Amino acid sequence: MTTNNQVFPTLKNDLFLRAARGEKVERTPVWIMRQAGRYLPEFKEVRADVDFFTVCRNPELACKVTLQPIDRYPGLDAAIIFSDILVVPQAMGLEVQMIPGKGPHFPNPVRTPSEMSRVQYPVDVNATLQYVFDALTLTRQRLDGRVPLIGFTGAPWTLLSYCIEGGGISGSGMNNAKTWLYRHAEDAHRFLDMLTNVCIDYLIGQVNAGAQALQVFDSWSGDLSPHLFDTFCLPYLVTIAERVKAVHPDIPMICFAKGSNFGLAKLANSKYDVLGVDWTIDPATARSFVGTNKTLQGNLDPAVLYGGSEVISKEVEHMVRSFGTQRYIANLGHGMQPTHTVDSAGDFIQAVHQHSTKLAHEGI
Ligand code: CP3
Repeated sequence: MTTNNQVFPTLKNDLFLRAARGEKVERTPVWIMRQAGRYLPEFKEVRADVDFFTVCRNPELACKVTLQPIDRYPGLDAAIIFSDILVVPQAMGLEVQMIPGKGPHFPNPVRTPSEMSRVQYPVDVNATLQYVFDALTLTRQRLDGRVPLIGFTGAPWTLLSYCIEGGGISGSGMNNAKTWLYRHAEDAHRFLDMLTNVCIDYLIGQVNAGAQALQVFDSWSGDLSPHLFDTFCLPYLVTIAERVKAVHPDIPMICFAKGSNFGLAKLANSKYDVLGVDWTIDPATARSFVGTNKTLQGNLDPAVLYGGSEVISKEVEHMVRSFGTQRYIANLGHGMQPTHTVDSAGDFIQAVHQHSTKLAHEGI
């Protein structure tokens, strides 16, 4: 593992880290999943000349794009490194392309257990993912302490589903990936175990390189029944937090298992500091599932951003009032969309500042 002996600039805004740790805050911190992306004209300008994964692999470009939303919206309380969850399957020897207008595509998905021989394992993350570590180190320097920097990984199940399906997951029914779970459970566990070990080394490496918090995205866990979630998602999510925390106990970890709000009570017993929630659960119910020892993150329906500034303000007020200003990090319930406007993101951030400052004064 690289141990980075860099001296980083002093952090000036630690609101996000304090909320993650459950410390008192004067207002609720806010960041947005996919805050660097195609809704930003400055991002599209970079992407006009360069392929998606080339941006990911070039620390200068990845840093530049990570800083774009931070420069545009001084109200953001955290940066997230520009990369993709699919750099992990790439590090395991699988080819992944990003097809414009379509999304990720694996030309040769791992459709059957016998094809697992094509998967590289073990993986030396320093050899294969050093470019992400370099991007983190550079970005942490260039942030100059304005806000903390979040590193991330895809969760094992979400990564497995891409490796098997090869892309086009949304609305696919996940028939290939689920066939593994029901017909080749032992092989699925073996593959998940491999992915878990790579994710752990990768997350530890990200902290060594400068990440100040970590998020695990289980974007497709919601396609699984509670029973499958308990079997094929939860144990691996739990292990990741345990093993990363054993090395970096003070780094806040966020788990976002989208669509699996039923799993919140179980994740409440894990080592994650923060649990992400999507918009299909109301804040009071989410809080009742997790108790008072976890910070919650989310959960505005991204479509609210199409409603205009007045609607955004009203919905944000309702959201912050329902979560309460403490032990809470404001975010969308999923990511920014290319069809969102830059003004709508600004309205969202401003509304969180305005309402949470006022509500915190009222002791809510
Ligand atoms: O600003 C940030 O949040 C950091 C960057 C980030 C990206 N991908 C950039 C990206 C992060 C955190 C991710 C994670 C990611 N990637 C997830 C988990 C988060 C989630 O949304 O559930 C998933 C499932 C992926 C896989 C992936 N990458 C998909 C499904 C797509 C296509 C979706 C689309 O909007 O086209 C991508 C491509 C991608 N990743 C883009 C960006 C900015 C757009 C591609 C482009 O620039 O052409």
